[in-house]
Amino acid sequence: MSQATYHFPRGFLWGTATAAYQVEGNNINSNWYAWEQKPGKIINSDKAGLACDWWNGRWREDFRRAAEGAQNAHRMSVEWSRIQPAPDRWDEEALNRYVEMVRGLAELNMTPLITLHHYSDPQWFVDIGGWENEMAAGYFEKYVRKVVYALKDYVNLWCTLNEPNGYAAQGFVVGAFPPGKKDFNLGFKVMVNLVRAHAAAYHAIHQLQSEARVGIANYYRSLQPAKPWFPLDGLVTYLLRTLNNIFPSASKDGVVRFITRHMRVPEAKGTQDFLGIDYYTRDYVSFNLMSSELFSRRFYRPEAERSTTGFLANEPAGMYEALKWGLNYNLPIIITENGFDDAEDRVRPRYMVEHLHQVWRAVNFNWPVKGYFHWTLVDNFEWERGWSQRFGLWELDLDTQARHKRPSADLYAEICRENGISDDMVRRYAPTAIPALFPE
Ligand code: BGC
Repeated sequence: MSQATYHFPRGFLWGTATAAYQVEGNNINSNWYAWEQKPGKIINSDKAGLACDWWNGRWREDFRRAAEGAQNAHRMSVEWSRIQPAPDRWDEEALNRYVEMVRGLAELNMTPLITLHHYSDPQWFVDIGGWENEMAAGYFEKYVRKVVYALKDYVNLWCTLNEPNGYAAQGFVVGAFPPGKKDFNLGFKVMVNLVRAHAAAYHAIHQLQSEARVGIANYYRSLQPAKPWFPLDGLVTYLLRTLNNIFPSASKDGVVRFITRHMRVPEAKGTQDFLGIDYYTRDYVSFNLMSSELFSRRFYRPEAERSTTGFLANEPAGMYEALKWGLNYNLPIIITENGFDDAEDRVRPRYMVEHLHQVWRAVNFNWPVKGYFHWTLVDNFEWERGWSQRFGLWELDLDTQARHKRPSADLYAEICRENGISDDMVRRYAPTAIPALFPE
């Protein structure tokens, strides 16, 4: 029997988030497909292959799983390279499949949140310079108009770009994502073009649909100085933190600021109706003269629990910090992603309730948090980490396409059904979180 429950507001959106390239399979016109074929780019030379086989229709059974798990919303993306496989060609059949998918969500009483760009680009677009091309925003806007016109009867929540800060940094500064470049100046140029593209998309969507709510899924990394009393740790932490702010602040005041650089993009001013936050983990940062990463070294707190591959640390306090940071933008907030790679589901239940408890704290102060999307529904293709990481509430057997439910799926279903977290749930699924969440 529960004795105490943290309740969420009525109408709170509960869902999972997915991305087209990671779940659909056989996305052969995408730049990620080309990238996968190059040796050494993906861990274990993994291939997305059929992925979760959504393109052949398995989205139906997965949406049903989500709905049976009491989720009332789903965040998914549409793939530009499918809808526009060549600059002068639209694939109406592909677009219709997306119409079917969002209709499928509507039939299950789930609110769709549609991402228009989630990391992957059409190969033809990359061949003409991709996001380095000054015309990029114009190409993107055309595609966005096509999609919004087709889906607007079912969708009014739109996310133009997924983690554009991460996309630009990984693809153009760090080099782990295609096109694999390592050039700070190029990184800045790409960010400016992405801000322009977001602004163009924002205005186009509102022109087509007056009731639309448009935002960006902003990647927020919590960064703390390793030695708070040491000024150089503080300085490099401050510099790295600027990466969190680029897109939300550019879409607030129309200025792109990256470390020492500024660029005005006036049309971007006031172009977010909600603030999407993707929060996963927190790093500690120390000054290091030898490091090529802005003279900094990042590491996890040694005591923090790690995900299976050590990729993430369980740092729920960072969720609260992210939401507090989000308040600066005076917008409704949606947690567009939060999750943990954990094949055995050993830490995930705890990670989930501890993070949601931080969300509840924010809601309890009347901060305008409107929804939470867990990453992810079913194990999927994790970009340059291939299939080595398992983020799903449901486990995927890649050989048979069978899905197996992890305990976290049941826990999340109870949370969604209750619209809250009870001590009874935490006792059954994540007893080690009891002292922190429900102290005697
Ligand atoms: C990305 C997802 C990715 C997840 C887990 C997020 O930053 O948006 O596409 O799968 O992290 O790595």
